Amino acid sequence: MRQKMTLDQIKTMFEQSGKVAVVGGGLMGHGIAQIFALAGYEVGLSDISSEVLEQVGPKVRTNLEQMAGYGLVDPDAIPGALRRIHTTTDMPQAVEGAGLVFEAVVENLELKQKIFSELDALCPDGTILATNTSVISITEIASTSQNRGRIVGTHFWNPPFLVPLVEVIPGADTNPYVVEACMDILARVGKRPVRVKKDVPGFLGNRLQHALWREAISIVENGIADAAEVDEAIKYGFGIRLAVLGPMENADLVGLDLTCAIHEYVLKHLEASKEPSPILKEKEAKGELGFKSGKGFQDWPIERQQEVRQRLVDHLLKWHVANPKA
Ligand SMILES: NC(=O)c1ccc[n+]([C@@H]2O[C@H](COP(=O)([O-])OP(=O)(O)OC[C@H]3O[C@@H](n4cnc5c(N)ncnc54)[C@H](O)[C@@H]3O)[C@@H](O)[C@H]2O)c1
Repeated sequence: MRQKMTLDQIKTMFEQSGKVAVVGGGLMGHGIAQIFALAGYEVGLSDISSEVLEQVGPKVRTNLEQMAGYGLVDPDAIPGALRRIHTTTDMPQAVEGAGLVFEAVVENLELKQKIFSELDALCPDGTILATNTSVISITEIASTSQNRGRIVGTHFWNPPFLVPLVEVIPGADTNPYVVEACMDILARVGKRPVRVKKDVPGFLGNRLQHALWREAISIVENGIADAAEVDEAIKYGFGIRLAVLGPMENADLVGLDLTCAIHEYVLKHLEASKEPSPILKEKEAKGELGFKSGKGFQDWPIERQQEVRQRLVDHLLKWHVANPKA
């Protein structure tokens, strides 16, 4: 059983395999495949949709060429990275010989449980099985598998090849060495893994992010500011600082006495609802879904959507240029 394997054994088995597999080749899956292919690993990538798989090569090429345009990737390394990604609709073929398998299918507990049960039966004991779930409990995803010690959460952020963070989350039965090995493997392919000690809904990043979104939506709902003004306040205010000064550092910087005084006064006025806000539910019911319907909290004509997407990619690429060792 994997529970009995040592950290060195787990790491050695991974390195000897020289291969990762990714199950689900959509938005996240193709990006995770790209990270490992660029780092020199063979990658087996499976999806139920052959149309999705046909898009993987062109998408990875575009991503890598954009990075090369900023000097972040050697253009000569692109053909090799593309050659190392092997797509197939046959999951057993994709995972064969892989030392680490990332699951990145749609966010559905039953589907993920089914895939992990299959992977658990297919893959030898030495293979680490990781889920990219955004919020679902790792323990629940692993609950229908036998060898739960090798199942772990590795939560990448979109786009995974440009956002360094990967949250690494153990389920109730995960072997701590599997967590250690993932931290090590992810760091070696250039990611910034962060250990989450408890398998709680939303893990770490999404709990923080959605606490902020809940307050932002509540501010709009209560007429305190318009949606665009809320975003301006963050983009031109504390959002700039956040990239270099986290809230825990910042609390220490301003002083915990001041932080305590602010919380004494303001916390009771902040949004604490346990449900999605009425305005969010109302917009969803009206089909005002944001970019995909052209209207959400704001109007989104196609040109404006493209401008926002490009602005994000340019920002992330420039961030990497400015932070070459990150
Ligand atoms: N989109 C994000 O910003 C983001 C960020 C972090 C984590 N995630 C998580 O990553 C996972 C994937 O999200 P995504 O945005 O890439 O979704 P996506 O819809 O772009 O891709 C999911 C892919 O899974 C495939 N699929 C469905 N059933 C399958 C099966 N049985 N076998 C193989 N492939 C199958 C689909 O064909 C699709 O291509 C989800 O768990 C999601 O919550 C998403």
